[in-house]
Amino acid sequence: MKKLTSEQLRSSYLEFFKERGHAVIPSASLIPENDPSVLFTTAGMHPLVPYLLGQKHPAGKRLTDVQKCVRTGDIDEVGDATHLTFFEMLGNWSLGDYFKEESIGFSFDFLTKVLEIPVEKIAVTVFAGDEDCPRDTFAASVWEKHGIPKDRIFYLPKKNNWWYAGATGPCGSDTEIFIDTGKPACSDHCDPSCDCGKWVEIWNNVFMEFNRTADGKFEPLKQKNVDTGMGLERTVCMINGLRSAYETDLFTDVIAKISEESGKKYGENEEDTRAIRIIADHIRTATFLIGDERGVVPSNVDQGYVLRRLIRRSVRFARQIGFDSAKLVDLAKIYIEKYKDVYPELQVNAAKIVEELTKEEERFSKTLENGLKEIEKVLKYVQGDKLNGKTAFRLYDTFGFPIEMTEEICRERGFGVDKEGYDKAFEEHQKKSQAGAEQKFKGGLADTSKRTTYLHTATHLLLGCLKKVLGRDDIQQKGSNITAERLRFDFNFDRPLTEEEKKAVEDAVNDAIARDIPVVCEEMTVEQAREQNAVGVFGSRYGEMVKVYTIGDVDKEICGGPHAEHTGQLVHFRLLKEQSSSAGVRRIKATIDAE
Ligand code: ALA
Repeated sequence: MKKLTSEQLRSSYLEFFKERGHAVIPSASLIPENDPSVLFTTAGMHPLVPYLLGQKHPAGKRLTDVQKCVRTGDIDEVGDATHLTFFEMLGNWSLGDYFKEESIGFSFDFLTKVLEIPVEKIAVTVFAGDEDCPRDTFAASVWEKHGIPKDRIFYLPKKNNWWYAGATGPCGSDTEIFIDTGKPACSDHCDPSCDCGKWVEIWNNVFMEFNRTADGKFEPLKQKNVDTGMGLERTVCMINGLRSAYETDLFTDVIAKISEESGKKYGENEEDTRAIRIIADHIRTATFLIGDERGVVPSNVDQGYVLRRLIRRSVRFARQIGFDSAKLVDLAKIYIEKYKDVYPELQVNAAKIVEELTKEEERFSKTLENGLKEIEKVLKYVQGDKLNGKTAFRLYDTFGFPIEMTEEICRERGFGVDKEGYDKAFEEHQKKSQAGAEQKFKGGLADTSKRTTYLHTATHLLLGCLKKVLGRDDIQQKGSNITAERLRFDFNFDRPLTEEEKKAVEDAVNDAIARDIPVVCEEMTVEQAREQNAVGVFGSRYGEMVKVYTIGDVDKEICGGPHAEHTGQLVHFRLLKEQSSSAGVRRIKATIDAE
């Protein structure tokens, strides 16, 4: 086998497909655009869904790329030799162009000619067939033609050999490619779907010819596509004869640094090795999430919450092995350096990565010690085998322990957590604080005037107009302060607005005021609000009822209110000042002419 570095594998893959007529396209963001159903991009095909469904791709019908992906389904499994939360997927696509025969031929040639994997080491699976789609004897015959013997072609059912993008959308049967690690088979029935370690899957070629509808039917697509995905980390590991992705060049510098600082060697004992892997994995993912072109920052909801969990878990494991968590940021710097040529956004956002990681680490390391002591104390007196929900909530609220962390620590001590009790305590707290916030706002109104309410409506118009004028859907409110005189509104944006942009924003808000649009308030669940693309889900929990304020086509936000009844009441909007607030955050001060 050819021993390639990660960088060499990326470039030989792209080169191979480029030579075969594929356009090399850049990796898309880790944060999916216009898809509220998933938090992260989990596969190379994800950003290509519209094109798989038939829309024309500007780069043509044959595409290839390296896509950054995040899968967080099993964060808790990270620490063993194989699980990773971030990985890169090498992929090639045919959008209604070639199909099974060429796709299999490309894969076979890349594996055997470029990576020089001996044919004897390759095994494949193909779809066994059912009422939705026939047995894939054709794919099997193509493999046979390339010299894969019948006894290494396995027919497996939908559970194994069908790939879905999601509950609905493009999908189809697939053929998966495995490498025999040389381990003896665990039984006579051992096949590539077995996880005994004999087989490692490295590539999946999906023949996407169906669209799965909401009622579970499989409709033929307009075009037959191919979607393939090869895990970069896994493949580098396999061709270099390594036991784990953590031993590849992608991790060696970071792991050496953790060892050097903590004095704990990778591979020496299980507990330390696990902690080292967790830190190396989580900080890499955190670096990519903050440094993404649509980057996120730690928070209590959605992507920000996952990011928070990753950082806080790293802080905890750093402490466990005697690694100063203030130095986690140094690991991020190593990753930025390592990946910056492939993902230049990391370099562009380097300062933000350092700042956000440092802030989150500081926040959590202040409370971690006391939180851990608290857990030890309560576990000593716990009744039964579960930590009660109220205590778990206190650990979250006072010490910043994500519930998953409390569960993990309790699990380590042989205890469970009363999750229902935790959810109840959480909801009660939410209700109280929401009522408190509304009260506070109303209280403020009592001693000022309707102006405050109208200025509040003006901030909603401002947010909607900023997004439209700047053409950036990812702009969010980062802070707001309203006095009787003016509004102050902070939002994420990485440069000053030009004079023209400021004027255009002001004009757009005034246009909305001139149209005298009604401000409509509806109550719904957070899920419904999300489905309607309402912004401002901060601190909301699933199932909770929220108020959504809609101002025509300008803005839709989850908000406690109150607001103007119609935009004409604001009379006229004037932008007073636009300035920097903090790194990546701009601040606008503005006022209205209403009395
Ligand atoms: N989309 C396919 C996968 O992720 C290639 O396995």
